[in-house]
Amino acid sequence: MAHKIVFDRTGGADVLRIAEIATPVPGAEEVRILVRAIGINRAEVNFRAGTHGQPAGFPAQLGFEAAGQVDALGANVSGFEIGDAVSIVPSFTPSQYGMYGDSVLAPARAVVKHPAHLSWIEAAGTWMSFGTAWTGLIHHADTQSGDVVLINAATSSVGLAAIQVARRAGALPIALTRRADKALALLAAGAEHVVVTTEQDTVKELSRLTKELGARVVFDAVGGPAFADLMTSAAVGGILVIYGVLSGEMSALPAIQAIRKGLTIRGIAASALDNDATLASLKAYVLSGLEANTLQPNVSKTFPFADMASAHRHVESNKHFGKVVVTV
Ligand SMILES: NC(=O)c1ccc[n+]([C@@H]2O[C@H](COP(=O)([O-])OP(=O)(O)OC[C@H]3O[C@@H](n4cnc5c(N)ncnc54)[C@H](OP(=O)(O)O)[C@@H]3O)[C@@H](O)[C@H]2O)c1
Repeated sequence: MAHKIVFDRTGGADVLRIAEIATPVPGAEEVRILVRAIGINRAEVNFRAGTHGQPAGFPAQLGFEAAGQVDALGANVSGFEIGDAVSIVPSFTPSQYGMYGDSVLAPARAVVKHPAHLSWIEAAGTWMSFGTAWTGLIHHADTQSGDVVLINAATSSVGLAAIQVARRAGALPIALTRRADKALALLAAGAEHVVVTTEQDTVKELSRLTKELGARVVFDAVGGPAFADLMTSAAVGGILVIYGVLSGEMSALPAIQAIRKGLTIRGIAASALDNDATLASLKAYVLSGLEANTLQPNVSKTFPFADMASAHRHVESNKHFGKVVVTV
């Protein structure tokens, strides 16, 4: 038998329950994984709460990323052996696969052998963060040495990964947070400058920090009315990559900024990574960064599998700094 965390209606974290299921049998292109750790993402919390925008079919499963050992292989799968230590690159939707379990199926294309020096917890906290940062900053924005990269919600797990990805490209990451008490930790995490949006005039401060040139790349998970400030703070020919809507409000879009500066606005979704060549580039980038230690997973706190609800509540509290991981 196996166990999976599911929910039968959207709502608070207590809608999550552990279901006993038959041990899943992999299809031809699938791998079964004995899960050791699960990375928790804000999107899953919103999906459970019913605020994600995508309806859930019930009982609904969750989970984009996990690390564990291969324990069964589909007929057409090659390159893996039973017992291999692997992790999952988010590249599917919750209606297809859910990693919140002790024995789960994953599409073979999403499975990767991670470096031996990573713990299960670090491996489970790697791919959503670095995958999203790579897709936005490298794949779409082509971040280069010397670029100024403006990172909103920089204390998020993706934001912290984006700081490392920007640094690896030789760019200068400027971090935005609402909380002054997180500023020092952001500098320690690699930010060149920190702007506290609740205390400083964001546009004025970013103009000062960029010597009025603005940021060539903007990486935003917040949206809402303050998106106008990010467009105002973008450089001529700049690109704004949108990957989340944490504000929950409609984004303001001052078209005149886009027209005058020739801005590009690009939305991304890691789960929509369905091109195998792009997925291979992402894996190669992250694996080489992990090997060289230029990319380091940032785990904030762990919870046991039986207490998944507390892990979700912790993410909702915004007290974390980096990735929340559940151990199995
Ligand atoms: N498109 C994709 O492929 C993709 C992939 C991964 C994640 N996401 C999205 O990216 C976002 C971040 O995910 P995550 O798991 O990395 O988040 P997270 O670790 O839970 O971090 C969220 C951080 O964002 C900030 N924040 C929260 N609500 C905010 C608000 N209303 N306004 C401004 N800042 C706010 C807080 O930082 P401060 O307290 O420091 O301000 C908080 O610590 C989520 O919206 C998630 O759904 C999208």
